[in-house]
Amino acid sequence: MIAVAGLGYWGPNLARNFAELGVLSALCDLDPGLRARFAERYPSVRMYAEFDELLQDDGITGIVIATPVPTHYPLARSALAAGKHVLVEKPPAMRGSEIDELVALAAEHDLVLMPGHLLLYHPGVRKLKELIDAGELGEVLCVYGNRQNLGIVRTNENALWSLGVHDLSVILYLLDEEPAEAVAHGRDFLTEGVEDVVFCFLRFPSGKIAHMHLSWLDPHKMRKMTVVGREKMVVFDDMELERKVTIYEKSPWKRAESYGEWQTRSGDISIPKIATDEPLKLECQEFLRLIAGEGDRRKVAEDGARVVRALDRLTVSLDG
Ligand SMILES: NC(=O)c1ccc[n+]([C@@H]2O[C@H](COP(=O)([O-])OP(=O)(O)OC[C@H]3O[C@@H](n4cnc5c(N)ncnc54)[C@H](O)[C@@H]3O)[C@@H](O)[C@H]2O)c1
Repeated sequence: MIAVAGLGYWGPNLARNFAELGVLSALCDLDPGLRARFAERYPSVRMYAEFDELLQDDGITGIVIATPVPTHYPLARSALAAGKHVLVEKPPAMRGSEIDELVALAAEHDLVLMPGHLLLYHPGVRKLKELIDAGELGEVLCVYGNRQNLGIVRTNENALWSLGVHDLSVILYLLDEEPAEAVAHGRDFLTEGVEDVVFCFLRFPSGKIAHMHLSWLDPHKMRKMTVVGREKMVVFDDMELERKVTIYEKSPWKRAESYGEWQTRSGDISIPKIATDEPLKLECQEFLRLIAGEGDRRKVAEDGARVVRALDRLTVSLDG
C-alpha cells in the first residue's frame, strides 16, 4: 500500500491517482490544516504529521515524496533505509553525490527508487522514443528543447532547476546516454542569483548534441522538443491539443549526379494519433508495476541519477 508525503500543490494530484488505483493507505504533512482537509476527503486513510511515523507503519510498502526539493534526499534516504520503495518528485536530489548514494542504497536493499519525471510518461514523449528506437528517423543528430513563457517568475529556484529538469529528463531518456560535456550560460535579470534565462549545451559520447532554452522572460509560450534525424525530423509540442507530435520527412541527401553537393528533400508531414491518457496516472501505475517486480527498477533509478548528475554539472557551469 502507498503513502503520500507532502500535500501542498502537487501531492494531492498524486494522492488522487493512488486513491483511484485503490492503493492509497496513508498521507503525511507537517501542516495541520492540510491534514484536516485531506482527512475529510479520504476518511479511511491514516493521517500522519511526521515522516518518521510513515516509516514505522508496516502496512506501507511504498512512499511518494512530494515535499519541497531540499527535503527529497534526506527523506528518500530514510525511507529506503526503512525498507520502503520510493517515488520521489523531481528532482530526486540536488547533488550528484546525493543521488549516487540513494541509487546505491536502493540497489543494496533491492528497492524501487523512481524519480517523478512526469514527461517520461507522456504518450507524446513515448512516441518520440518509439520513433527513435525503431530507427524511423535514421541516425539521430541533435535534440533541442524550448521551455519559455512570460512568468511564472520564481525567486527561489532558477530556470534551470524549475524548467530545465523536465527537458533534461526527456533528452536523456530519448538519447539514453550520459553527456560528456554539459555547459550552461544564463543571467539573473530580476532576482539576484536566480537565473531567469538559461541556455544549455550538451554533447554526448556518440557525437549527438542537445540544447535547451529555458526562460520565464519570453514572448513565446513554448513547450517543445525537436529531434533531428538523418532521414526524418520530429517535433513534440505540448502546447498543441491535437497535434502533439509532427513527423517531417525532411532530410539532406547527396544525388549521384550532383557531384557531392548536398540537396534537401521535403516529403510528407504526418501527425500520428497520440493517446490522451493522463501522464500522472501512467507514472503512478509504473511505480506500482516496479514494486510488483515488473520492469527494470535499477535502470529507472540509474536514469534518475543521470538527470541529477547532469543538472549538477550544468549548475557548476552556470555558476562558474
Ligand atoms: N511533476 C510535476 O509536474 C510537478 C509539478 C509541481 C511540483 N512538482 C514537485 O512536487 C514537489 C512539491 O512541490 P509543491 O509545489 O507541491 O510544494 P508545496 O510547497 O506546495 O508543498 C509541499 C508540502 O510538503 C509539506 N512538507 C514539507 N516538509 C515535509 C516533511 N518533512 N514531511 C511531511 N510534509 C512536509 C509542506 O507542509 C507542504 O504542504 C516538488 O518537488 C516539485 O518539484 C512536480
